[in-house]
Amino acid sequence: MRVLSGIQPTGPIHWGNYFGAIRQYIALQDNEQAFYFIANLHALTTVRDATKLRQYTFDIALDLLALGLDPCKATLFVQSDVPEVSELCWLLMTGAPMGLLERCHAYKDKKAKGLTADAGLFAYPVLQAADILAYDSDTVPVGEDQVQHIEVCRDLAGSFNHHFGDVFVMPKAYVLDHSARVPGIDGEKMSKSYNNTLAVFEDAKVQRKQIMRIVTDSRPMEEAKEPAGDVLYDLYALVAPEADREAMAAMYRRGGFGYGEVKKALADAAEKYWIEPRARRAELAAHPDRVREILAEGAAKARKKAAEVLNRVQKACGIRGG
Ligand code: TYM
Repeated sequence: MRVLSGIQPTGPIHWGNYFGAIRQYIALQDNEQAFYFIANLHALTTVRDATKLRQYTFDIALDLLALGLDPCKATLFVQSDVPEVSELCWLLMTGAPMGLLERCHAYKDKKAKGLTADAGLFAYPVLQAADILAYDSDTVPVGEDQVQHIEVCRDLAGSFNHHFGDVFVMPKAYVLDHSARVPGIDGEKMSKSYNNTLAVFEDAKVQRKQIMRIVTDSRPMEEAKEPAGDVLYDLYALVAPEADREAMAAMYRRGGFGYGEVKKALADAAEKYWIEPRARRAELAAHPDRVREILAEGAAKARKKAAEVLNRVQKACGIRGG
């Protein structure tokens, strides 16, 4: 099995990125061949500041390593270090139906808001398909918001295979039910574009303040409440040990508590949960050359595989001798 996933370097990673995807990257690296990359070509559709893009790209490498990605087990690299992917993107683009891309949410949402979209945003899912198909990936750990893109990838691969023979491996999204859509502090999906995130590597005191400011409903304290679906409880469930989570759920169902109490418990649990990765990140940040070395080794490994797949695809569609 080949596991592959990518994350855009558009700013500090948040709980949604971690619980929706990164935690799965790490769990899967032990038994599978895993490729994880930093999607800087995708980020270029929104980050148009060279210094920032470079910094965010490096920061994501630090984040992933600090969170437990082990370069001895998984291959970590930067998307643009594998130019074969961009070439594969073009090959896929030649057969990508406009209607399919018009239905993709990033483009559709922008258009619905009356904003003008670039071709890069429109073709974003095709580049994502190239990312996946370039390494014969079959398992793609992602949050729910990326499932549509994996479906597009399957459509493009299926149609290419239909025309040119069995060229591509069919990938599948790997989504865990309980963390597919982590809520932000306003209850909507946690997302940088909604400005509702809790950053993984936030200073503990700042994070506590953010948690304390979460707006809650005005039901009376004594009322019994269903825990699932309540933002505070759902966030608490991600970072609290199982026994504490069960005790919290029981407290919700009994009623007779204040949300202030829950916020404090959430801030305490979060502080504990991120202590080790924070320390590891500080250690790694002191050795930037080691991080660059890991990325260079990863890119070399990834390129080797992508070149093999690209060669196969080029032959199949007739732009290289058979
Ligand atoms: P990106 O950078 O937006 O997000 C990285 C990962 O985090 C997940 N995620 C969430 N999961 C649950 N709840 C949330 N609130 C939440 N917010 C984000 C995303 O689902 C994702 O798995 N297009 C991709 C990057 C990409 C990619 C790829 C992914 C480029 N090529 C190939 C897989 C395979 C993206 O923008 O992810």
